[in-house]
Amino acid sequence: MLPLPRVTLPDGTLVPALGLGTWRMGNDRRAAVREAAALALGLDLGMTLLDTAEMYGDGGAEEVVARAIAGRRREVFVVSKVYPHNAGRKSAIAACERSLERLRIDRLDLYLLHWRGRIPLAETVAAFERLRADGKIARWGVSNFDVADLCELWAVPGGGECATNQVLYHLGERGIEWELLPWMRRHRLPVMAYCPLGEGRLVSDRKLAALAARQGATPAQVALAWLARQGDVMAIPQSADPAHVRANRMATDLAFDAALLAALDASFPPPPGPSPLAIV
Ligand SMILES: NC(=O)c1ccc[n+]([C@@H]2O[C@H](COP(=O)([O-])OP(=O)(O)OC[C@H]3O[C@@H](n4cnc5c(N)ncnc54)[C@H](OP(=O)(O)O)[C@@H]3O)[C@@H](O)[C@H]2O)c1
Repeated sequence: MLPLPRVTLPDGTLVPALGLGTWRMGNDRRAAVREAAALALGLDLGMTLLDTAEMYGDGGAEEVVARAIAGRRREVFVVSKVYPHNAGRKSAIAACERSLERLRIDRLDLYLLHWRGRIPLAETVAAFERLRADGKIARWGVSNFDVADLCELWAVPGGGECATNQVLYHLGERGIEWELLPWMRRHRLPVMAYCPLGEGRLVSDRKLAALAARQGATPAQVALAWLARQGDVMAIPQSADPAHVRANRMATDLAFDAALLAALDASFPPPPGPSPLAIV
């Protein structure tokens, strides 16, 4: 198994290009042990970027993460997200403290605004910077921000401190390649790609299966490798199945050549023109 490629965050921190998602975890207490074991396996294999949110399972996913990272905090880069309605000057601090309590850690590596709400960005940035100064988060970022949102953010004092924008991006959803991705590249802002397997749909895509079979790989592996090979994209697939976790980890061993890239572009082209950012 080759080492995982790494992505450099704006402050120079390196994180693996493949991490672990937790959206549908923490909903059912009976599944928590299995879910935490799948996450812990992913960590064992080096996928130490772990994405969660206060929203997932109403805090339950953060509790699953706590189980998975117990005793190994220093190995893991923990990301959580605040609800837009909790992103105010005081409410963001309280929400972060609740997340830390559920995660049983004293600092988040990255705290994201889950999507844009009504609270002014300046207020959220001020709250994030307060959290950073107090040592409760190491850095902050945003999610589901389109170009206009990022331009507004950059105009706010401290807005350019943003460490990433987590957005929907996978072979079947390439709209960001028109405007958002070039904007982010110009501003050296790495992408965190959510739903990298199209919420599982790419796994059973026939065109992708045919291309993957030619490489001796699975569709999931090709979909993940296509993202991770870009250099500034982190993908956070979710799985509670240990066999899937192992297979996902192997994705970046796949060698990409021009022919495979061309075949993927032909079967999964970006949309014909710019469109608003797609969200889930
Ligand atoms: N910021 C946002 O607004 C936002 C929105 C959505 C998601 N997210 C984040 O992104 C993460 C990933 O997105 P997602 O969970 O929606 O979708 P995803 O990662 O694209 O797909 C997950 C699905 O794929 C299956 N799967 C995973 N690996 C597989 C493999 N090797 N072979 C076959 N099936 C496989 C999983 O089932 P098994 O458990 O059976 O493997 C699960 O059903 C989330 O968990 C969350 O952390 C963020």
